[in-house]
Amino acid sequence: MNQVPAGTPWSPTSWRQMTAAQQPVYDDPPALDQVVQKLTSLPPLVTSWEIDKLRLQLAEAAEGRAFLLQGGDCSESLDDCGTESIVRNLKVLMQMSLILAFSSMKRVIRVGRFAGQYAKPRSSDTETRDGVTLPVYRGDIVNRSGFNPTDRRADPELLLRGYERAALTLNFIRALCSGGFADLHHPENWELGIMSETQDSPQFQRYGEMVRRIGDSLRFMEAVQGLAISQLNSVDVFTSHEGLHLIYEQAQTRPVPRRTGYFNLSTHLPWIGERTRQLDGAHVEYFRGIKNPIGVKVGASMQGDELLRLMDVLHPDNEPGRLTLIHRFGADKIGAALPRLIEAVQRSGKTVLWCCDPMHGNTISTADGVKTRNYDTIVREITEAFAIHRGAGSILGGIHLELTGDNVTECVGGARGLTATDLGRAYKSVVDPRLNHEQAMEIAFLVADQLAAAQ
Ligand code: PEP
Ligand code: CO
Repeated sequence: MNQVPAGTPWSPTSWRQMTAAQQPVYDDPPALDQVVQKLTSLPPLVTSWEIDKLRLQLAEAAEGRAFLLQGGDCSESLDDCGTESIVRNLKVLMQMSLILAFSSMKRVIRVGRFAGQYAKPRSSDTETRDGVTLPVYRGDIVNRSGFNPTDRRADPELLLRGYERAALTLNFIRALCSGGFADLHHPENWELGIMSETQDSPQFQRYGEMVRRIGDSLRFMEAVQGLAISQLNSVDVFTSHEGLHLIYEQAQTRPVPRRTGYFNLSTHLPWIGERTRQLDGAHVEYFRGIKNPIGVKVGASMQGDELLRLMDVLHPDNEPGRLTLIHRFGADKIGAALPRLIEAVQRSGKTVLWCCDPMHGNTISTADGVKTRNYDTIVREITEAFAIHRGAGSILGGIHLELTGDNVTECVGGARGLTATDLGRAYKSVVDPRLNHEQAMEIAFLVADQLAAAQ
């Protein structure tokens, strides 16, 4: 195999010598170069000290002392970058993290799939409709989803639009998280307008009860101490996205004063997708050299020896918090696939953070060809993941979900028993189906119960 030999010099551009899967073809290279130069000169979106802070927290999660909650849209859309959608998605993450922290009494690390989740891997380079074949839609940072040659052309300007939207998103999230919005004394700030429609459901009643108890505990602590617990007025929210579009990632990859090495300053936690984790591929080459904590999606085809070789390249020094393995097998396959990977990691003597993505192995199509996921199957994969890790003496330290604060109908099942017929009502995703607010809360309670049981 054409694997990069250990000791080969790395640079932010060394990936260009390798085969890069899932990259768009641009028809105007000088225009692309101009955009890349511009992107390279624009300020970073995140800082190296935030990245280090996250890495240390992920190290705690790997040891079972914290828990990673990673979630958001499958793919962000440039047009949807607005107040409502940002606030809604942030509120769901806040509510879920409160549920998880309250039940597990562990720090919950909130990582959004946002501020850069714009590039999508696809199963084919082209799409054919009624005899017309066009390049496939690869996410809003590459081209547009409309089925015509203009929309499907890879447009370099979209890289700048994506960077700008990521900056706008992050700016708003930072402002919310450092102000009153994140104040634990006022969790009512996190309530969503759609509550009235769903507040009769058991999980919202349970949530309300939990919020009241947290309020009582805070007031008790403050009465005893005689002062306000002011640190709780702000919370950390980190960003993540699939580091798929290597030109975009490279443009934000920089040295930092008084530090050695390069950081990807477009996000805190980039991850390698299931379709681009080839040992001899450009993505692995790029990721091996950056200082960020990184994630790798691992699916059912991954073998133990392959994982060991991948860890040699991506996690050679066993640096705490460096590597998160996000497993996404599917409920029917996890029983066969996960134990051999746990065994391989244990054999390596290295520590990784194990995180369960119960979404991407469980995508199905309805009879009408609509992509969906069944809530019960998602629950089954999560429950099995906890049981398998527990049985193997390993720690499941995180969950990775595609969700939205919107009241969409994209996944079937859940307390409301959504069926295939409901999908037509509010299906908004142009890529993968997401959990809606209520389904996401149900999952949070399920995971919280698993964590509480493991205490
Ligand atoms: C995703 O997270 O949206 C995705 C495409 O996942 P995977 O690489 O696991 O298929
Ligand atoms: Co997805």
